[in-house]
Amino acid sequence: MDASGAQEYDRMQDLKDFDKTEAGVKGLVDSGFQKIPKIFVRPAEELAEDLKHKRAQIEVPVVDLGGMEKADRRKQIAEEVRTASETWGFFQVVNHGIPLKVLDEMLDGIQKFNEQDVEEKKKYYTRDNTRRVRFNSNYDLFRSRTANWRDTLTISFADPDQSDSKELPDSCRESAVEYSKHVEKLGNILFEILSEALGLDSKHLRNMECSKGHRIHSHYYPACPEPELTLGTTKHSDPGFLTIVLQNQSGLQIFFQNQWVDVQPIPGGLVINIGDLLQLVSNGKFRSNSHRVLVDRLAPRISVACFFSGPLGMENISYGPIKELISEENPPIYKEVLLSDYLMKFLTSGFQENYLLNYFKA
Ligand code: OGA
Ligand code: NI
Repeated sequence: MDASGAQEYDRMQDLKDFDKTEAGVKGLVDSGFQKIPKIFVRPAEELAEDLKHKRAQIEVPVVDLGGMEKADRRKQIAEEVRTASETWGFFQVVNHGIPLKVLDEMLDGIQKFNEQDVEEKKKYYTRDNTRRVRFNSNYDLFRSRTANWRDTLTISFADPDQSDSKELPDSCRESAVEYSKHVEKLGNILFEILSEALGLDSKHLRNMECSKGHRIHSHYYPACPEPELTLGTTKHSDPGFLTIVLQNQSGLQIFFQNQWVDVQPIPGGLVINIGDLLQLVSNGKFRSNSHRVLVDRLAPRISVACFFSGPLGMENISYGPIKELISEENPPIYKEVLLSDYLMKFLTSGFQENYLLNYFKA
């Protein structure tokens, strides 16, 4: 084996050793590391490439969902959502109907889960994607080039909701069940507005079962002694239809017009982004944009990303460009995909940008 091959081998051992601790990145921080382990250090050429992109001072659009019950206002909201979805693929919403208390308690619950005794967390540590509740560090740990400075607790909520929440960790059980109910409602409202923004009947996307079930990925990005050498989340686009993100502090960045744009949290606000599947069914009208997460030197960052990725547990459904959006001038640019194939591709490919969309080009 050549020198680089030997290095690869060592890296694999380091990854295995790290995974075996089942304590995640938080475990490393707690054991007092002042330098980050090599598996988290981005390659020098990537760090150099990053310096070429300016940090832009522009801001992602904010959509006020207040007054939606009035027809005029709703039209205006749909118009704002359309513009944001066609350009940024991202927007923030305020007056979205989820009480501040529900948001705060969700973040609190996730903080408690991550900062409790490590033995309690280990009970949930797994890479088995069929488990309803799973905790691990880097779902793509053994496939990615560089590990991310992040631990994640994932909870699936199928539709109809499994009211049995016994499997959920004590620290965040009630807050997660409550948040899930609210975020599902908001998801449905957004799918209606997005349908209208595409010029379709309000119920079109809902009837396609886009919002049937969701997965909540709660991320904990520990404070990092060398934040400039690593990332909390590598640049990627989201695979599903739609993502709703709750965050406690800055760190999320969108790649827009060849620059990195910081998404500054608005108190009580939520970040919404279009995923690859919505780009696919909208035949490219809506954009699934690339984004990433930086880590902070001083404070842990918590974010709760709720993914709507089509019906959980009935993945023999297929999706292609919506017929009403296809015409002679607008031929389909994507193929019809079987949801199960699509999700399998995602799980075996790891974080990438529009990888799935390129794969399923017509
Ligand atoms: C994701 C994601 C953003 C964040 O989970 O796909 O982009 O702020 N999360 O953690
Ligand atoms: Ni994402």
